[in-house]
Amino acid sequence: MHIKGRSLSLLIPEEKIKERVKELAKEIEKDLGENFVVVSLLKGSFVFTADLIREFSVPVKVDFMWVSSYGSSQESSGSVRILQDLSMDIKDQKVLLVDDILDTGYTLKKVVEFLREKEPSVLKVCVLLDKKERRKVELKADYVGFEVPDKFLVGYGLDWDEEGRNLRGIYAVD
Ligand code: IMP
Ligand code: MG
Repeated sequence: MHIKGRSLSLLIPEEKIKERVKELAKEIEKDLGENFVVVSLLKGSFVFTADLIREFSVPVKVDFMWVSSYGSSQESSGSVRILQDLSMDIKDQKVLLVDDILDTGYTLKKVVEFLREKEPSVLKVCVLLDKKERRKVELKADYVGFEVPDKFLVGYGLDWDEEGRNLRGIYAVD
């Protein structure tokens, strides 16, 4: 498989993701109970979010935010901008913030601070992937699908300059 002329190596196959998403959903449900709001960060986490919410057996609400982090296409920077706010009021609601990957931590740190100001009763963070060794700011996710090595990854919603989101597994760009 190729993207932009570079070859890709499969890191996490579709079946393994599916299994792990089920486990995460169970764990989250056990902690949060029912009627929580899933806040998904566009665009990267739309695939993960779609699969995760369908594993919940309790009623949940779903909302989206769009944030952009300025930097190169492969690395975010400290300046994170909120491009699209929530459509719902989350005051006194239990909130699960979902993102595709936790890398430097700049993006989630900014979004967590932004959401805290809206006074949810609970705010938990769930990421599918965690590139732990790349962290620049203190941020720990409550739920992590997989710890991954410091490689650029695509697939399952993650892109390289908008390509690769539709791949079913997660691949490392060689
Ligand atoms: P952070 O602000 O550095 O933690 O970056 C988080 C965001 O950067 C993620 O939501 C992704 O959109 C993007 N990102 C970080 N690493 C990768 C990667 O390996 N592949 C694709 N996108 C990535
Ligand atoms: Mg993203």
